[in-house]
Amino acid sequence: MYKTLFWTGDACGQLHLLDQTQLPTHVGNIICTTADDTWDAIRKLQVRGAPAIGVAAAYGLVLGLQGARNFSLDEFLNEVDRVAAYLSTSRPTAVNLFWALDRMQKHARSAAAQSAAACHDYLLAEARQIEAEDQAMCSAIGRHGSPLLSSGMSILTHCNAGALATAGDGTALAIMFQAAAEGKQIHVFADETRPLLQGARLTTWELQQRGIPVTLICDNMAAQVMKEGRVQIVITGADRIAANGDAANKIGTYGVAVLAKYHGIPFCIAAPSSTFDLSLPDGNSIPIENRATDEVVAGFGKQTAPEKTDVYNPAFDVTPSELITAIITENGIIRSPTTAAVLSHLTQTG
Ligand code: MRU
Repeated sequence: MYKTLFWTGDACGQLHLLDQTQLPTHVGNIICTTADDTWDAIRKLQVRGAPAIGVAAAYGLVLGLQGARNFSLDEFLNEVDRVAAYLSTSRPTAVNLFWALDRMQKHARSAAAQSAAACHDYLLAEARQIEAEDQAMCSAIGRHGSPLLSSGMSILTHCNAGALATAGDGTALAIMFQAAAEGKQIHVFADETRPLLQGARLTTWELQQRGIPVTLICDNMAAQVMKEGRVQIVITGADRIAANGDAANKIGTYGVAVLAKYHGIPFCIAAPSSTFDLSLPDGNSIPIENRATDEVVAGFGKQTAPEKTDVYNPAFDVTPSELITAIITENGIIRSPTTAAVLSHLTQTG
């Protein structure tokens, strides 16, 4: 079984990442030994998906502090803030990145370490804890979401919210893995997910690895597939969910939600509580990453538009909560999300 990321050694060890830019044709790891390596891997999408980015950043912080074990404690804590600020510039949309770094910074100060080296050791333990909690959250999302699926259903998903996007079994795909493990006969339509093809390259690969029947469609086929009655539910992941339930996810998700509404198909989001950003009342202020023009006009090295074509390449969009039937978290299901429902779910269960 593939592993999206893992750490080897003590606090002076290394971070191993399954290089997702090479999938599905090559399955191989890269090794990060510095915060710079980790920053690059996140920016280039060698590791991607909101929860996995958070876990990788936590380990990246440990890497970035390996040269500071002989510092005074005060100097070390300044270095924690400096490296965390640097890693937080790798990508802007997935809140799990900021959540994990903030948690690590707080841990460095609350750990009551006697020395920089001890604090560094505590930070590795905290990064391992974040990884372990992410695995548990994925399993719980799978258990809570599985009752939404029954034998004979086809599920449409967009981008990749599987094991490759987390430290565990994924979010949206965890629900499908759990349903399949319970013996339900399900089938998945995977949107190709232009421009970086996470659906084609990663989701189809993961589902095939797990023996779940999957049909790949181009993004612009979703409407027709829905009209033909081939899809009974849509489940995607999310990168950041505002207090009212508005959810940022891979570009194209909003369009899928509009299509699902028109066709009367439930549209669900699966995400851990670390993906909620309660500091934002709604999705309007979620920062949206804009990526390089090459991804659109010369994807995977093949030029597909004239030289100097003007390009707009937002990597995410925001689905308004009124289009979301339910949000599945590790604590249960928020049906028809509103600010009150989100707050009550997170405070009562968190
Ligand atoms: O640009 P990516 O590949 O990092 O985008 C990933 C997504 O949009 C996922 O759907 C999201 O992070 C949820 S992953 C559990």
